[in-house]
Amino acid sequence: MASKAIIDRPAPDVPVQKDPDILAAARLAGEDLCSIADLSSAEVRAILKLGHDVKRNPREYRHALDARQMVLMFEKASLRTRLSFETGINTMGGNAIFVDHTSSPLGERESIADVARNVERWVDVIVLRTYAHDTITEMAANSRVPVINALSDFEHPCQALADFMTLQEHFGAVTGMNFTYVGDGNNVCHSLMLTGAQLGANVTVATPRGYSPDIEIVTLAREMAQANGCEVRLLQDPQAAVENADAVYTDVCVSMGFEHESTKRAPIFRPFQVNEALMQKAASHAVFMHCLPARRNAEVTDAVLDGPQSIVFDQAENRMHAQKALLLLLLGGLANTASFKNERELA
Ligand code: CP
Ligand code: NVA
Repeated sequence: MASKAIIDRPAPDVPVQKDPDILAAARLAGEDLCSIADLSSAEVRAILKLGHDVKRNPREYRHALDARQMVLMFEKASLRTRLSFETGINTMGGNAIFVDHTSSPLGERESIADVARNVERWVDVIVLRTYAHDTITEMAANSRVPVINALSDFEHPCQALADFMTLQEHFGAVTGMNFTYVGDGNNVCHSLMLTGAQLGANVTVATPRGYSPDIEIVTLAREMAQANGCEVRLLQDPQAAVENADAVYTDVCVSMGFEHESTKRAPIFRPFQVNEALMQKAASHAVFMHCLPARRNAEVTDAVLDGPQSIVFDQAENRMHAQKALLLLLLGGLANTASFKNERELA
């Protein structure tokens, strides 16, 4: 692993607006983020680079999204995603409106296309948490303002961006690292595979038979990995999967919407629990990661979750910084930052 000194941040004396990677990502203005696959490898790097700057210099971005309106429409419960988006836009001068769709799924009262064609008249960005991934892509296809996937049954891209930002922070760089995911081949797993592959990390996934990640994601992640000089491995043995791992990640084995499968899944996933014995098989410097919420002593033991290798609350914090970077790019907010304005005044 690389040392912290080479963390992928803009040089302190170069305004972020002049960083070539971030300038190249300006094409994201007005785009959607339904999947990590919507982003090139360079764009993933640029979002994370900006995320580090946003975290380091929050004052710089205080007015970057002045008066911009964000609507969050959630069909599922949330703590981290909702609050990190709300605090994120509030600290950049914008405003968040939360619409609870937990008891009235999107598309039930009126079509998703009609919802999009109304909402885009009032807001600058639509953030969706849904069951069906198609709800997100349909909203995106019908909306003239950016749509962000805040978790669907298929992907959780904002989570994965924050997670790899956290790994960069911890290790300095993620290129060539060994990232292991143990558990259900679910939405979080899918986005981590794509993000890791785009960033040149070696991704190993260990799932029980029948719970592997979707073949479409595996194919895409392997194509990305080939282009970025890393590999994606699928195993069914958690012990073999964590060997030499720099990071061990798990998620619940029963995602929202799959509660009816709890009894069936519990014994299948028991051998995939991340406990101290499993962590001992990883590299001695390995970190433990979880998107949260965790089911304590099910997929991970208290000793690991609360132990010295755990970076789960850094991940949670970085949700806000990474999403602020994403919003800045999708809403073209960098032109409103303090140093950009100062430069124009001086010119
Ligand atoms: N990790 C995550 O998305 O948490 P919430 O479900 O609380 O938003
Ligand atoms: N896989 C979990 C993630 C929650 C943040 C779920 O979809 O419920």
